[in-house]
Amino acid sequence: MNKALRKVVIAGNWKMNKNAEETKLLLSEIKEKLPKTDATILLCVPAINIGTAVDAVNGTNINIGAQNCHWEKSGAFTGEISADMLKSFGIKYAIVGHSERRQYFGETDETVNKRALACLRNDIHPVICVGENLEERENNITETVIRTQVEKALIDFTKDDIKNSIIAYEPVWAIGTGKTASAEQAEEVCKFIRTILTEIFDKETAQSVTIQYGGSMNAKNAKELLSMENIDGGLIGGASLKADDFATIVSCAE
Ligand code: PGA
Repeated sequence: MNKALRKVVIAGNWKMNKNAEETKLLLSEIKEKLPKTDATILLCVPAINIGTAVDAVNGTNINIGAQNCHWEKSGAFTGEISADMLKSFGIKYAIVGHSERRQYFGETDETVNKRALACLRNDIHPVICVGENLEERENNITETVIRTQVEKALIDFTKDDIKNSIIAYEPVWAIGTGKTASAEQAEEVCKFIRTILTEIFDKETAQSVTIQYGGSMNAKNAKELLSMENIDGGLIGGASLKADDFATIVSCAE
């Protein structure tokens, strides 16, 4: 399978932005500006706005996703949200292991794995984030870091599980910094991730998995990044909060 046959997924990560009213407003702007596309469009909004957002995009090709998901169905886990709860809103995608969760909220490779498996058991596609920080890149250990994160995130995964997942390569030094990885740097790591998937599963399986790039993707650099052989979409933070920019990025996915 080559790039042309893989599912292209353009995803926005709104992080902790927009209240309920602002959510409705931004979604109506995005709906108006979004070009016709074969790509899967996903917007991961703050959990509290999921219901509002799901209603606002009703009848469109926009999917609403979550930014995290706990592994237990219910229980004494103050502040957490379960896959079962997400499912009850019709949610089909959830980000897991975002670097901000790892950095600020103590997320580990082990919890990322548990969260991803919980998503899969509830028919939710996990968007599994991996990425090296600046120090790791400068010390030339990017591949070691990525290999560890990918292998640990995918413990107990079947071939079907990985086929139902998305991997997002997000170099931490490029997130929210305006410093994008060059298309070549991004492609190199996304290709490496596919090699790891080939080792864990098999070539055909690895070739079918959508691998996104994320980290300061914007209306100007999206086309080049998305044209790379192993980059099948984007996970977009800042630029997904601007309807025009997000629409332009979607148009680059063709
Ligand atoms: P950014 O965020 O596009 O603002 O760099 C990407 C992300 O964190 O998913």
